[in-house]
Amino acid sequence: MIQEDKQVLSTSQKEDEKSFEFSLRPKNFSEYIGQQNVKDNLNISIEAARKRNEPIEHVLLYGPPGLGKTTLAYIISSEINSNIKVTSGPAIEKVGDLAAILTNLQEGDVLFIDEVHRLNKVIEEVLYPAMEDYALDIIIGKGPSARTLRLDLPKFTLIGATTRYDLLSSPFRDRFGHVFRLDYYNESEIERIIKNSAKKLNIEVEDEGAKLLSSRSRLTPRIANRLLKRVRDYVQVKGDGIITSDLANSALEMLNVDSYGLDYIDRRILENIIDKFNGGPVGISTIAASVSEEVGTIEEVYEPYLMRVGFLARTPRGRVVTELGYKHLGRDFNDSQNKLL
Ligand SMILES: Nc1ncnc2c1ncn2[C@@H]1O[C@H](COP(=O)(O)OP(=O)(O)OP(=O)(O)O)[C@@H](O)[C@H]1O
Ligand SMILES: [Mg+2]
Repeated sequence: MIQEDKQVLSTSQKEDEKSFEFSLRPKNFSEYIGQQNVKDNLNISIEAARKRNEPIEHVLLYGPPGLGKTTLAYIISSEINSNIKVTSGPAIEKVGDLAAILTNLQEGDVLFIDEVHRLNKVIEEVLYPAMEDYALDIIIGKGPSARTLRLDLPKFTLIGATTRYDLLSSPFRDRFGHVFRLDYYNESEIERIIKNSAKKLNIEVEDEGAKLLSSRSRLTPRIANRLLKRVRDYVQVKGDGIITSDLANSALEMLNVDSYGLDYIDRRILENIIDKFNGGPVGISTIAASVSEEVGTIEEVYEPYLMRVGFLARTPRGRVVTELGYKHLGRDFNDSQNKLL
């Protein structure tokens, strides 16, 4: 049951989910719900670049998993009518790999590098002149006779996506003309996403049902779509195929999704801080060790949402569980030492 619990609310994409996500992926800005500020800015740059007949400046998209970075990269390339070449940080192992990708680009192409924070440093540096001057510097020979050869590259747009902006070096960040942070959605946006997805999948969902699902989706489109699919299966078996709020509620109960969409690990993080550290403050690596997760995963996946819903706070001395967090778990805040902070 715990395993199941962990899967249904995991923000990362599961292997068998790829084609499902692909079918639900918005194809243009009007289908892409929310993130209005990002869309407005992009629209202006796209329009301006079109007038100048130039590719748009390089774009860096960052934010927690499942919020629509990859989707947005595809939309940008389709809005500017360009081809998109897709790769990822860990996939580019050697300078030669990057050189091959770059020299195969055509004028105006989009090069999408996912997980861009995982690019090797040496490769990152080869990317600098490519981003700045559309040039590739190749070193020929070794030792004193070595020389650099500069190859011109077609003008292209690099779109980088990352969940870990903090891990990018500042020279790299600076080379992106546009840096956009995708934030969590609000519930009414998630509700619209659920309704659109339901339409695409031919699922009947009542307003109240969609509302309930949206309140449990961790404000994340990927999870909203996943819950929709799981609840559909449930109502086909237990009901007549229509998602009502009652049926959605019992389906989610069965899946162990609580009223804030917290999963087993989220709850353990909060409980551990409360039980072992009196509510905090406690350091992130201590928290990670206490729930047997990687520090990076806590920072990237769990912590942003727990802070967003106000259950966890960051202080100079470490993380603390807030009064709201205590309440959510049904614990007594008066016992907490962070009350004194
Ligand atoms: N703004 C949106 N409107 C509608 N659906 C969306 C939106 N953003 C994302 N989605 C849906 O959520 C799914 C996950 O989005 P996407 O794969 O783009 O996330 P991501 O940020 O790239 O995640 P990761 O960090 O794991 O790569 C998409 O398949 C899409 O169906
Ligand atoms: Mg992605």
